[in-house]
Amino acid sequence: MTKKRVLSGVQPTGNLHIGNYLGAIRNWVELQYNYDNFFCVVDLHAITVPHNPATLAQDTYTIAALYLACGIDLNYSTIFVQSHVSAHSELAWLLNCVTPLNWLERMIQFKEKAIKQGDNVSVGLLDYPVLMAADILLYDADQVPVGEDQKQHLELTRNIAIAVNHKYGNEKNPIFKIPEPLIRKEGARIMSLSDGSKKMSKSDPSELSRINLLDTPDDIRKKIKKCKTDPIMGLNFADDRPECNNLLGLYGIFTGKSQEEVTTECSDMGWGKFKPLLTEATITALTPIQAKYQEIMTEKSYLDSVLKEGKEKAESVASITLKRVKDALGYLTIKN
Ligand code: AMP
Ligand code: TRP
Repeated sequence: MTKKRVLSGVQPTGNLHIGNYLGAIRNWVELQYNYDNFFCVVDLHAITVPHNPATLAQDTYTIAALYLACGIDLNYSTIFVQSHVSAHSELAWLLNCVTPLNWLERMIQFKEKAIKQGDNVSVGLLDYPVLMAADILLYDADQVPVGEDQKQHLELTRNIAIAVNHKYGNEKNPIFKIPEPLIRKEGARIMSLSDGSKKMSKSDPSELSRINLLDTPDDIRKKIKKCKTDPIMGLNFADDRPECNNLLGLYGIFTGKSQEEVTTECSDMGWGKFKPLLTEATITALTPIQAKYQEIMTEKSYLDSVLKEGKEKAESVASITLKRVKDALGYLTIKN
């Protein structure tokens, strides 16, 4: 039996934080043995907001190295860079022409990012989810493991695929496979350290709001020491305690303890006792990833070979899908 396909990606913008790790990459690592996996560094998405050309290439290496450092195994998974496979841009164009504008205007992430950009919003930012749909549909992905914030984009991807199948395909031979989002409950939405009601985000201007995967133990100590808490003694999971929920949740994930175990351990604690425990658990979880990352980054030629092989594998799958779509849309092909 052939394995089902997984595809996902992260943008090479800034540093990855523990929300990216716990919401996405950690799940990729756990899933990979049972699927045929493609993980891309989505560098075309990275320029939908103003970017720095001087750091884009280096940031792309960083993300690819972090995939490996977090445990992506090349025996099971392919790692590649989105812009290296031109089929992504090409399919995005074809999908643009079947996607109603008002589907994109409804996207929450677009509205949030557009507000932050003021007058500077590019067409690319609006079109971002169509490119994401192209990423997914090119690989006939069955499952797309992402954090909670990507749910709406996955729904859009499915609707675009259904629309294309309906318009240009037939029921027996659909053009696209309809993908499913894979959103794990635990870790799907890690909150900001400065405000438990806001998502931890790369774009938050405050460094204190997030823990990055590459933060030093001292950074981590400082950030947890300064993070927002509440004045209630005794720690528990409760709807009206967003900071407490988030921090206990992180502690549970990093120590591998269940909610019940964390509740039992922490119910009589104050923050002064809990924060050092969370700090140590976080450092212990991130240290091996950081060590592996440093090792990989000293060997750029190895990383280049991984990305070159990834590009070839990705291209061989993507080109077949692109051809299928172009044929269905009626494009001329010249016979040899
Ligand atoms: P991005 O940083 O936007 O490229 O996101 C990469 C992946 O991380 C996506 O699957 C997101 O859903 C996930 N992600 C981003 N922020 C968080 C967060 N605060 N909690 C959980 N997952 C997140
Ligand atoms: N939009 C995703 C994010 O910001 C990144 C992404 C781009 C992606 N293409 C994808 C995720 C395809 C999953 C599948 O998190």
